[in-house]
Amino acid sequence: MTEPLSFEPPRGMRDFYPEDMVWRNRVFDAWRQASVSFGFQPYDACVVENLALLQRKSGEEVSEQIYHFEDKSGRKLALRPEMTPTLARMIAAKQGQLAFPVKWFTVAQCFRYERMTRGRKREHYQWNMDIIGEESVSAEAELLAAVALALKNMGMPANGYRIHVNNRALLSEMLAASGIAANHHAAVFLALDKRGKIEDTEIRDLLIKEGLDETAIAKTFDLLSVQTLEQAAARTQADSPAVKALRDLFELATIYGIADRLVFDISVIRGLSYYTGIVFEAFDTERKFRAIFGGGRYDSLLTAIGGQPTPAVGLGFGDVVVVEVLKELLGETAATEKRGVIIGYMFPEQREVATALARRLREAGEAVELMLAKQKPKQFFARASASPAADAIFIGPDDVTNGCAKRKNLTTREEKEIALV
Ligand code: HAM
Repeated sequence: MTEPLSFEPPRGMRDFYPEDMVWRNRVFDAWRQASVSFGFQPYDACVVENLALLQRKSGEEVSEQIYHFEDKSGRKLALRPEMTPTLARMIAAKQGQLAFPVKWFTVAQCFRYERMTRGRKREHYQWNMDIIGEESVSAEAELLAAVALALKNMGMPANGYRIHVNNRALLSEMLAASGIAANHHAAVFLALDKRGKIEDTEIRDLLIKEGLDETAIAKTFDLLSVQTLEQAAARTQADSPAVKALRDLFELATIYGIADRLVFDISVIRGLSYYTGIVFEAFDTERKFRAIFGGGRYDSLLTAIGGQPTPAVGLGFGDVVVVEVLKELLGETAATEKRGVIIGYMFPEQREVATALARRLREAGEAVELMLAKQKPKQFFARASASPAADAIFIGPDDVTNGCAKRKNLTTREEKEIALV
């Protein structure tokens, strides 16, 4: 006997029932509106990528989580775990024809073979916003202001989240000042990024493997005790460009009206190897959930894949964590919007009148759910209350005789007459 088929999707993959789509649409709409408000242009790409483009040999987690396969001709392909390499490929392919800086956005479905924890799935949608071709922090500031608008559009209160900002270039300066050579920095970043996810002793082992001695390891951990930008500045040279970039960003954030949400945080390093400068990650203020979004500057990725040197900065914002945070802050049903009208009728004889009314209202631009069979009033109103409709019209024989029916607001119970002819 064959095994009965499961009704569950494959582990970590997601089905979206209508009640889930309400939240998904709320988030997607907010992303799109914010992108357009800030002058970003949409782009899209294939979900299946060349494996070689996605794999990096830096030991980062994402490279180990790739879903990959061979097609029937033996091509090594993969489901994209993120959008950034694909974006870099698309930019490199048209580098001579594009007017930089390019500001592009997309909502991309991404796949990662993750260990399943709260907020982590094996498939998610990720809003990506990137600015390619601008080296000043004006780009970072613009991105962070756009993302703040998206969060506002979703109903997230300004005090509900914090954007933690750091600069890998600053960490590099501090590591260099501690005598740790530049060729170790990338590996040190990836090791330190694991803080809180694995034991410090395991991070130590990673640093030993990288060739750091006891003194260097102690100095590395000591960097993480830095609390403020001023303390960090005191550990670098007076004219540190990395400190200046952060100060400029915080200053611009004041003008954009988002400075209250930005915090300097030395522990934000990011788990992707391509970041070169400012990096950021946003969390709910109470830090109950995983990162809502993350991003940063990646000025060397274009050259790493064979393109021309081009500065770049961007962010990825998934749909999983933010919905968890919004549900906690606003309630499970907060995204449900009541609109349009639901129309029902009591006997088969009223079907024609109900259908004609539905047509008239639809032609006038209303959203109308027409019942497809007769119903008892109790049945109809129970369904109407559970539907997304704001109003309900129930047509009985007397309404047809009178030539008008009642349009009832399902929240206030207020009734208005509506002509049936
Ligand atoms: P990332 O930090 O790996 O960055 O992912 C960005 C966001 O995607 C996370 O903050 C989270 O919201 C969401 N996310 C990632 N993995 C999962 C998962 N398994 N389940 C649910 N949500 C997830 C990047 O991917 C960079 N490429 C972002 C970027 C764009 N940097 C520059 N441009």
